Amino acid sequence: MRAAVLLVSWLVSGLVSGLVSGLVLGPAAARAGDPASSDPVQRGEYVFDAAGCLGCHTNEKGGGAPLAGGRPLKTPFGIFYSPNITPDPAHGIGRWSDADFARALRSGHGKEGEPLFPAFPYTSYTRMSDRDIADLRAYLSTRPASPAANKPHELSPPFGWRFLLPVWQALYLEEGPLKDDPAKPAEWNRGRYLVEALGHCGECHSPRGWMGGVDSARALAGNPQGPEGNKVPTLRPDPKGLADWSLGDVEAALEMGMLPDGDFVGGSMAEVVRNSTSKLTPADRRAIAVYLKSLPPVP
Ligand code: HEC
Ligand code: HEC
Repeated sequence: MRAAVLLVSWLVSGLVSGLVSGLVLGPAAARAGDPASSDPVQRGEYVFDAAGCLGCHTNEKGGGAPLAGGRPLKTPFGIFYSPNITPDPAHGIGRWSDADFARALRSGHGKEGEPLFPAFPYTSYTRMSDRDIADLRAYLSTRPASPAANKPHELSPPFGWRFLLPVWQALYLEEGPLKDDPAKPAEWNRGRYLVEALGHCGECHSPRGWMGGVDSARALAGNPQGPEGNKVPTLRPDPKGLADWSLGDVEAALEMGMLPDGDFVGGSMAEVVRNSTSKLTPADRRAIAVYLKSLPPVP
């Protein structure tokens, strides 16, 4: 009963927000990208949704324009404010070359070559393919420019010291792109790519050491200290995780946020579902489920 009420209210709120955004942004906003399109902008929109760039780079609560930055991201190291990534030439990335953009995602460096903080999950995005990065740039270039200025981060020393970042990158950044495993089926490789590169699921679902690096042996095994200090569940198929979940259960969680017990995901996962996994093709959600269910359990 409770689940039914929740489902109805979810559908209604989805419908209402769909209507509102349709009114405000026009019909183009309702059209999701298409990974099979011959148009790089269409493909790029799909990459953009799968990679979840919108949420972090939009200060929705503060009424900021899409991708104009300024969203506060609370971490154990202090507060990061996301920068403006609209095509604005002065405050956004309008003057960045395609190579500058690719370098930011692949190696975590800004336009002047300065190392970027890993609050920007380039340790995952580094695994993206060259083509997805190029398509993503093509799509971003079509977004409306916003002249919002960037806000400086509020970090406690030594974590706010940008000059220490090359040390961190040497320890924790393994540059991509991710190579397919020829011994595995295409669906599994696609699922791994969606989880490890675009979806950056491990940024929240993996435990981290004191310097904020992901503990790779326990990747996706849950994080006691996730975003905003909340606990993030494991995505490994062990008894406390997805062991009893069917592929369909995982797909439903990614499509609608619905859990096998009829409850719904909350917190930052609700945003991931809304901005990202609900917009994937059913085949891509299945590929994610196949990959997660294939992982070895972590006791
Ligand atoms: C978890 C939050 C988060 C997500 C998701 C995220 N970013 Fe960012 N991004 C940040 C933060 C924080 C910074 C600032 C890093 C710094 O100051 O060193 C940043 C920096 C950047 C920069 C450098 C901008 C500059 O002015 O130096 C670019 C480009 C960028 N992000 C693009 C993207 C794209 C494209 C995506 C999606 C593929 C994305 N980001 C997803 C948080 C995020
Ligand atoms: C921004 C952080 C964040 C990211 C990124 C993220 N998740 Fe989550 N996820 C969470 C949180 C937090 C929860 C717990 C939600 C709750 O308490 O209701 C969760 C819950 C889940 C659940 C339900 C698990 C359970 O046992 O209830 C699944 C499945 C899931 N996430 C899959 C994914 C996948 C797949 C990705 C990548 C495509 C992903 N998540 C990316 C934060 C995140």
